[in-house]
Formats: sequence, structure tokens, C-alpha cells
Amino acid sequence: MPAELSPIDKAKFVAAKRATTFVQSGMKVGLGTGSTAAWLVQCLGEMVRDQGLRIKGVPTSSRTAQLAREVGIEVISLDEARWLDLTIDGADEFDGELNLIKGGGGALLQEKIVATASDQMVVIADISKQVETLGAFPLPIEVIPFGWQTTRTLVEEVLVGLDVMGRSSSLRMNGDAPFITDEGNHILDLHLNRIGNARQLSLVLNQIPGVVENGLFIDICDAVVIGYGDGRVEVHDINAGTQEQMRYDFVDSDNIFTEVSD
Ligand code: A5P
Repeated sequence: MPAELSPIDKAKFVAAKRATTFVQSGMKVGLGTGSTAAWLVQCLGEMVRDQGLRIKGVPTSSRTAQLAREVGIEVISLDEARWLDLTIDGADEFDGELNLIKGGGGALLQEKIVATASDQMVVIADISKQVETLGAFPLPIEVIPFGWQTTRTLVEEVLVGLDVMGRSSSLRMNGDAPFITDEGNHILDLHLNRIGNARQLSLVLNQIPGVVENGLFIDICDAVVIGYGDGRVEVHDINAGTQEQMRYDFVDSDNIFTEVSD
């Protein structure tokens, strides 16, 4: 771990650290994508190396697969695993019902397939990701490259009849070229500002030919672990209806967070 972490990285780290307590030896675990999930993969790698944790990881992107292998986690495909005990992943936004926007990192398709194939999905996020209503973060949708501009027009047209506050979209770029997902597709980011009915929007978007999947995760997430820059962590479990709090202290001398309270 770097000597100095910014408050945002501390928040991500403590959320990831707390989420490792959901993981038990023998589990098949979906490994999310993004900067918060990267902390999780590092923490799990440490537990594999130092504590004898035995897990099989199913990564949600080529980036995560590479990192998982680097830190010593056994990586298997979803087809090998078939079904997972648990997936832990980041999110771009989550609301009070633990509905999510995901895909800021472009991995929403594999993330959604893996999370849906899991007994439990836990989101790890810093507090900035919590929102009253989804939609300030542009909603990513994965579209196939063939005819993507026609698909974009169709998407913008169906948005007219839906409870959103914006209809523009942008093709995600990687420098001068369109961003290409792990599945060889493009990403359209929808600038909706506010999503009044996420369930309806998700269903309607997925009806449009050319749309492979959208970044709304509805009724998929079971719990969220929220990290704060001062080391506090909250766990909200939507099924149990519980909220827990604890705090990790950052020890400057050895750069280790230690649990100080429950
Ligand atoms: C990846 O496609 C995304 O769904 C990420 O999980 C999401 O963007 C959160 O990423 P950070 O943890 O980097 O904010």
C-alpha cells in the first residue's frame, strides 16, 4: 500500500477491507472491476498468501483477471464456476434500495452476468456514491458496433416517453478511437440527470436492438459497504434491514489499517 493515501483512497480501502469479512475459504467469488474493487483484489490476495485463504475468483474484466493472477488468486471462468457464492464489486451510484448504476469502467456486461449468477452481491463504495435518486452519473449502456448510431437514435427516441431529465448521449472514447469493451462492443453514456423509474428504464433499454445491456442493477445488490475517508465503515444489508458501523484506524508507522471498534 502507498505510504500516503488520499481520503478517497482510504474510504475505498476500508470498504474493501471490511468486505473481505464476507469471504470464506472454499468460496467461488466474483471479483469486480474498478479502483475500489482493485483494493478488494489486493486484500484478498494478501489473505491468500498470508492466511491460507482458499478461494476461486471469477473476474469481471480482463483488467481484474490480470490483477487477481498477479496477487495470487486462483482465477476460473464463469463457465467453470457456473454459480458463485458471492460477488463483490464497486458502483458508480447506489440508492436507498441498493439499486445501482455501474459501468463507469466499461465492464458492466460481465459485471451484471457475474453478479446475477451469485448467491449474494456486495457493493463496496465510498460515501460519494450514495444518492437519493439515480441518474446524475451518466448511465452506460453497452451497444454492438454494427449500426451504433442508429441504436443511439432509437435510445434517444424511447427516452422521450420515460421519466428522465435529459436525453443526450455520448459515445465513450479511448483517446481518438471509440472505447472497446472486453466483449468487443461500444459504450454509450446516457446523460439523464435523474432516473425516475429505473426498473422501467432498464427493461425498455434492453428491448432496443443493438443494446446488449445497460448499467442499471435492479434488485441484484444485497448489501453495500460504505467507506469514509476517516476510516469509518457502514454496512447496509437490504435483506436483513440492518445497518452496522465500525472504524479502521490508519497506523502511520506501518501503513496498516487496524480495526478499532465495531
Ligand atoms: C466498472 O465497469 C464499474 O462498474 C465500476 O464498478 C464502477 O465504475 C466503480 O468504479 P470505482 O470503484 O473505480 O469508482
